[in-house]
Amino acid sequence: MLEGKRLLVTGLITEQSLAFGVAKLAQEHGAQVILTGFGRMSLVERIAKRLPAPAPVLELDVTNAEQLDSLADRVKEHADGLDGVLHSIAYAPPSALGGGFLTAPWEDVATALHVSAFSFKSLAMATLPLLSKGAGIVGMDFDASQAWPVYDWMGVSKATLESTCRYLARDLGPKGIRVNLVAAGPVRTLAAKSIPGFEAFEEAWTGRAPLGWSLTDSEPVAKACLALLSDWFPATTGEIVHVDGGFHAVGV
Ligand SMILES: NC(=O)c1ccc[n+]([C@@H]2O[C@H](COP(=O)([O-])OP(=O)(O)OC[C@H]3O[C@@H](n4cnc5c(N)ncnc54)[C@H](O)[C@@H]3O)[C@@H](O)[C@H]2O)c1
Repeated sequence: MLEGKRLLVTGLITEQSLAFGVAKLAQEHGAQVILTGFGRMSLVERIAKRLPAPAPVLELDVTNAEQLDSLADRVKEHADGLDGVLHSIAYAPPSALGGGFLTAPWEDVATALHVSAFSFKSLAMATLPLLSKGAGIVGMDFDASQAWPVYDWMGVSKATLESTCRYLARDLGPKGIRVNLVAAGPVRTLAAKSIPGFEAFEEAWTGRAPLGWSLTDSEPVAKACLALLSDWFPATTGEIVHVDGGFHAVGV
């Protein structure tokens, strides 16, 4: 399904990272993967070595204009174009999560929005010169259609990400580029575990999702991301695909 596809995968930091699952499955299905990492580059490189095949690792802080501006040239050292891009990046300062909704200062809220939502547009623009007609961009969402316990400004960031996805779909559609989100259920990654009170999601999800839900298996999420990045969703853009065991569809 992905034979010959050239994919840029951001957001890998541990083996549990949703991005790791996507990169692994992509390589197993014949794609060439280029990774980006943020901050702890030696850790990212060490984790990348656990993938089935070697993958170059480029540094990318999505709030750093120089790194964004040089990204396309740095990718070109490894591939002459891209067929897909995965945005798997989010961060909110502690004040903006875990019950701090009413007290978080704007500076911290701004950081959450910048890293977790505006960066979807930044990454799309940074890679646009490399994207061929029919290419896909996929971002990682957490259903933002309602307010959650403890998710606070990350929830608002995800609502912004969802809207950003629709506007990107509007503006990149005429270039033949598809932009979609996968709204995943809770998986125990570094980002998830850093949310105080995250256990509330875990209990609710495993009890309510009609298909059941694994908190440790990110393969269903990876499969959906890669399906959207493949040629099998040629007329789908601005969409949010829920990969949550069906949790979003049922009440108490
Ligand atoms: N784990 C879950 O339960 C879950 C559910 C739904 C959606 N998501 C989303 O999936 C995505 C990936 O998160 P994850 O759960 O795999 O956790 P993770 O901690 O493995 O990944 C988060 C990544 O964001 C990167 N990052 C943070 N600030 C950055 C910056 N300034 N520039 C570039 N990268 C930066 C980190 O380096 C890390 O690789 C996020 O968007 C997250 O909100 C996660």
